[in-house]
Amino acid sequence: MDSLKEIFLKDYKQPDYFFDTVDLKFTLSEEKTIVFSKIVVYPRLEGCSAPLVLDGIDLKLISLKVNGDELKVDDFHHDARHLTLSAPPSGKFTLETVTEISPQTNTSLEGLYKSSGNFCTQCEAQGFRKITFFQDRPDIMAKYTCRIEADKSLYPVLLSNGNLIEQGEIEGGKHFAVWEDPFVKPCYLFALVAGKLESRDDTFITRSGRKVLLRIWTPVEDLPKTAHAMYSLKAAMKWDEDVFGLEYDLDLFNIVAVSDFNMGAMENKSLNIFNSEVVLASPETATDADYATILGVIGHEYFHNWTGNRVTCRDWFQLSLKEGLTVFRDQEFSSDMGSRTVKRIADVTGVRTYQFPEDMGPMAHPVRPHSYIKMDNFYTGKCRISPSCIGHDIGAEVVRMYKTLLGAPGFRKGMDLYFKRHDGQAVTCEDFYSAMRDANDADFFNFLLWYSQAGTPCLKVVTAYDAQAKSYSLKFSQVVPPTPGQPVKEPMFIPVAVGLVGPNGKDIPLSSVYHDGKLETITKDGQPVNTTVLRVTKKEEEFVFSDIRECPVPSILRGYSAPIRLDSDLTDADLYFLLANDSDEFNRWEAGQVLARKLMLSLVSDFQKNEKLVLNPQFLLGVKSILCDSSLDKEFVAKAITLPGEGEIMDIMEIADPDAVHAVRTFIRKQLATELRDEFLNTVKNNRSSEQYEFNHTNMARRALKNIALAYLGSLEDEEITELALHEYKTATNMTDQFASLAALDQNPGKTRDEVLADFYDKWQHDFLVVNKWLSLQASSNIPGNIENVRKLLNHPAFDIRNPNKVYSLIGGFCGSRVNLHAKDGSGYKFMGEMVLQLDKLNPQVASSMVTVFSRWKRYDETRQNLAKAQLEMIMAENGLSENVFEIVSKSLA
Ligand code: PHE
Ligand code: ZN
Repeated sequence: MDSLKEIFLKDYKQPDYFFDTVDLKFTLSEEKTIVFSKIVVYPRLEGCSAPLVLDGIDLKLISLKVNGDELKVDDFHHDARHLTLSAPPSGKFTLETVTEISPQTNTSLEGLYKSSGNFCTQCEAQGFRKITFFQDRPDIMAKYTCRIEADKSLYPVLLSNGNLIEQGEIEGGKHFAVWEDPFVKPCYLFALVAGKLESRDDTFITRSGRKVLLRIWTPVEDLPKTAHAMYSLKAAMKWDEDVFGLEYDLDLFNIVAVSDFNMGAMENKSLNIFNSEVVLASPETATDADYATILGVIGHEYFHNWTGNRVTCRDWFQLSLKEGLTVFRDQEFSSDMGSRTVKRIADVTGVRTYQFPEDMGPMAHPVRPHSYIKMDNFYTGKCRISPSCIGHDIGAEVVRMYKTLLGAPGFRKGMDLYFKRHDGQAVTCEDFYSAMRDANDADFFNFLLWYSQAGTPCLKVVTAYDAQAKSYSLKFSQVVPPTPGQPVKEPMFIPVAVGLVGPNGKDIPLSSVYHDGKLETITKDGQPVNTTVLRVTKKEEEFVFSDIRECPVPSILRGYSAPIRLDSDLTDADLYFLLANDSDEFNRWEAGQVLARKLMLSLVSDFQKNEKLVLNPQFLLGVKSILCDSSLDKEFVAKAITLPGEGEIMDIMEIADPDAVHAVRTFIRKQLATELRDEFLNTVKNNRSSEQYEFNHTNMARRALKNIALAYLGSLEDEEITELALHEYKTATNMTDQFASLAALDQNPGKTRDEVLADFYDKWQHDFLVVNKWLSLQASSNIPGNIENVRKLLNHPAFDIRNPNKVYSLIGGFCGSRVNLHAKDGSGYKFMGEMVLQLDKLNPQVASSMVTVFSRWKRYDETRQNLAKAQLEMIMAENGLSENVFEIVSKSLA
């Protein structure tokens, strides 16, 4: 690994040369592709004599001209990563290169590659350097034209960014198209697609009257599955106008679905490219969860047009500037389109499932990292295991805190100022911060620490009611755990939304709080408030509410107002009270989760001591009362009766014990199913789908509740339930119901399970997206020794190791079973080690997302530590390891 280089934020330097215009020409053919590039270059400072260093990987240089003259070999230097012009002319000059590339053999799915016979590109973060020689960095913003030439019958559709300005035939059965993008952009937003595709077309009229043609391109057979994507796109365009006053800026917006894609989707200017998994849906083939994901991802990529494209990042350390903000925007969009509480619960669960674990491992890094070896490794979050999420949940939480502190109107003012100041620029997280601050004249204290300090802050609260003084006190103390390279931390600025719930279950109106020796008024428009946002900034700090006549139960961190771990002194009784009464629905759910976490931890310790497990009857009653409360939103009920995941519990243990956690979670589920059998049965019967599938909250909520009840029942090994689940399976009219019943049956090994899995494959083998669900369901099964089945599936015709979605489904799916992944005989680790090495040869990005399963090996017992470490060392010893995998493995072993 001699070429390995760690890149530091502190080393950022402005480029010596800028690019004004970039004219590209691609001649695509079956053996090779030739890329002609003509760039107008100018120095940042007059009289500059610095060398011009261009990035380029896996490129064959054919010709290199400066101002029209071929360069002599002595005037440039070319190695495996760079092309350096030692003494470029002074002033403005043109640089022309001719390069040969080989998309047909590109399995990394980065740069220009082929997917199902079509050409497509993926340039973020640093893929453009695999297309042509360039200063591949986002602060190089230029105007592009792109001419594409290709065989007309094989590639009838030729697309790039911006507007189509010319097209025509060329001899030899070829044709061409010329695209011009009127907006400056960094090269990571460049895109090209050529292939056999058809489009679903629609139009959107912007609020200022611009008529925009919307086109979603897929292979012809998939076109019927694009209706929901089109609906989502139009909804997103309208929402961005309504909420942020942001209009689309061109007359054409293209979306292309491809089946080979490392991530979810990509926001290339006016030519978004999507992993087909997050575009294609029909009621028969996609679940409610898929529909919701598509809405969110379509929104996300569209919203990037302003937050990412019009205003972009100065360098990759600023990734959160666009991703955090855009994830926040798509979360808000989905909330407005469905249920805000349910969406918030899902997003917070995402933070806990993906972000917190990362914060505890060797890859822990601040929202804005200080250094990286391979930028791809910093696209964190769910996207590392499944394409359905874009990651950067934590960046979104930081953006959300601005809104919590400023309120919606203040946040909007900040956004307006951000665009006014920075449209057309490549900027930093400080620029966003300054816009928010300046537009509101706000005091954000040391809020910027959220960008530079890694680790999940832990906030402890001690509460006290003084009946005599009629005051209620909250004493906070915070600790930010050490992370690699950051042993000591400073206290963070944590906005804590708080309400006090009176004995009657209603919020106590709050008008002042005593803090830091001062009485602060917290009214809004002169009126007392039910919720106030406390600014917790010190290591230790107290807030006292006065005029509190009865002892309340505090509802702390309402709506999850900061991405932290809260550790309060609330009793079980307090938590049951909040579960029943809190006006903040998020905290109602959270109270149930805290209770479940406590219960699970105490049962885990019983299990480890070989004691008999007994379910706390109060917990059972709590679940029952939620399940039977018909006044509650059904999807909320479904979420509220879902136990925290096994990973979440393992994360809060001293030494993670996958077997104990799995045994306990299974025990509680079975106990609940046994005790509430009738209630669950009724829930299934009363919530069946009778109507045509519709994507709306009411119907989705009903299906969610029915299917969680079915999942609980499925944990019982009993004939009546098997019959019921089979009946649900056979009568299902949509994939949500069908897959839920399949999953219920999948829990118990045996003949029925085998038959129904075979039947499902039989039905759906022609549809690769459905088949991926089938792969992932089986792979993630907790049935002991399931590794054998997973190994068998590697050879199934439905599997292909070159296709990321299939890898995420089968190999990623296997990691979903904690007991099998962490099997004490090391079989799970061994399997993953083998897979990582195989994948790394083909696709380093996919390999590195799989190798992260080893990164927290130190959290386990000694036997597992040794087994996992052996795999890491085996991987490390491999010749020709990619930077992607090297970075994670070396940091894990450090
Ligand atoms: N920028 C993409 C998005 O927001 C994510 C992505 C990153 C896709 C890197 C591909 C490569 O969806
Ligand atoms: Zn994004």
